[in-house]
Amino acid sequence: MEDEILQVQNLTVNYRLEDSIVKGIENVSFGIKKSSITAIIGESGSGKTTLLSAILGFLPQNARISGKIIFNNEKIMENGKYSKKFRTNRWRLISYIPQNAMSVLSPLRKIRSHFIDTAMAYNIPKEVALNSAKEILPQIGLDEKILNYYPFELSGGMKQRVVIALAIFLRPLLTVADEPTSALDVITQKKILDLLKKINNELNITFLVSTHDISVASYVADEIIVLYNGHIVERGSKEAIINHPLHPYTLYLLSSVISLSSKNKLIEIREKFMVKHNINKNRGCPFYSRCPFATTICSEEFPPNMRINDHEVLCNKPFEVEKSVYT
Ligand SMILES: Nc1ncnc2c1ncn2[C@@H]1O[C@H](COP(=O)(O)OP(=O)(O)OP(=O)(O)O)[C@@H](O)[C@H]1O
Ligand SMILES: [Mg+2]
Repeated sequence: MEDEILQVQNLTVNYRLEDSIVKGIENVSFGIKKSSITAIIGESGSGKTTLLSAILGFLPQNARISGKIIFNNEKIMENGKYSKKFRTNRWRLISYIPQNAMSVLSPLRKIRSHFIDTAMAYNIPKEVALNSAKEILPQIGLDEKILNYYPFELSGGMKQRVVIALAIFLRPLLTVADEPTSALDVITQKKILDLLKKINNELNITFLVSTHDISVASYVADEIIVLYNGHIVERGSKEAIINHPLHPYTLYLLSSVISLSSKNKLIEIREKFMVKHNINKNRGCPFYSRCPFATTICSEEFPPNMRINDHEVLCNKPFEVEKSVYT
């Protein structure tokens, strides 16, 4: 679609170990709209980092990748091969705020060297790098004098801002942020999320942000993708996912954060998630073992990807789930 800056098509990533293969993500397809903020929400091990690394072409050696990625109307990856044009321009097209970002700053190098090194890796002269850094720092709440500081002279929140500045100072079209706030206290977390919204708004940079916290997704995102065990189980606008979730896993995530004082039907649903079915390893729905709505068909058949209003939901019985939750 024309208004989409990124299209991921049938992306599968497996990791090869000495005597086994581990699933990273399986047959994942989605698009993200230009100038939007999309959040990927999923628990530990659901495949968030795998998905983001595949988009960036930063997967480890033992990863096997298939599928296609289209960025800004050009194919940048097909069956594990990334185009040369993408590899040589990567940071100006898609930049990265890695998980545990603050630890990527080398303790032995001043902040200015981090900007120069990043730019020189893409053949951008030192002066251009420093000028861009000086322009961006005040916009994200940092004085340009921190260029002469070492990382240990900065607070956690300031270091996180520096890593964000490093991701955006070459003005990429898309920035991918892997759990950008999970190492921060709640107040700093909010400030960093507000900063991402400001950058998105003022510099028109599209963001793809992963989180394990549905309240972070709800605060920052326009669109939400719910990942479970390597599969996209639901996606849609923030309003659709937060106000009218359809997939049982999304219902579970939301029921876990609803406060006890709220008289929401989700509170009743929370109790239902105590069930555990035996897993049928080779068949059936990926959420079968934890789904209180599951029936025999769910243990036997992999669910279809259904479109319901403005949701996409991977479920064998979404209408039944909807009926039992919302009526
Ligand atoms: N280099 C690797 N080699 C083998 N398996 C891996 C490798 N990296 C990830 N995995 C496996 O792939 C699956 C998805 O992992 P991934 O790190 O993408 O999840 P995640 O959602 O980012 O988790 P977290 O929230 O803990 O960061 C997990 O089962 C994980 O153990
Ligand atoms: Mg991760």
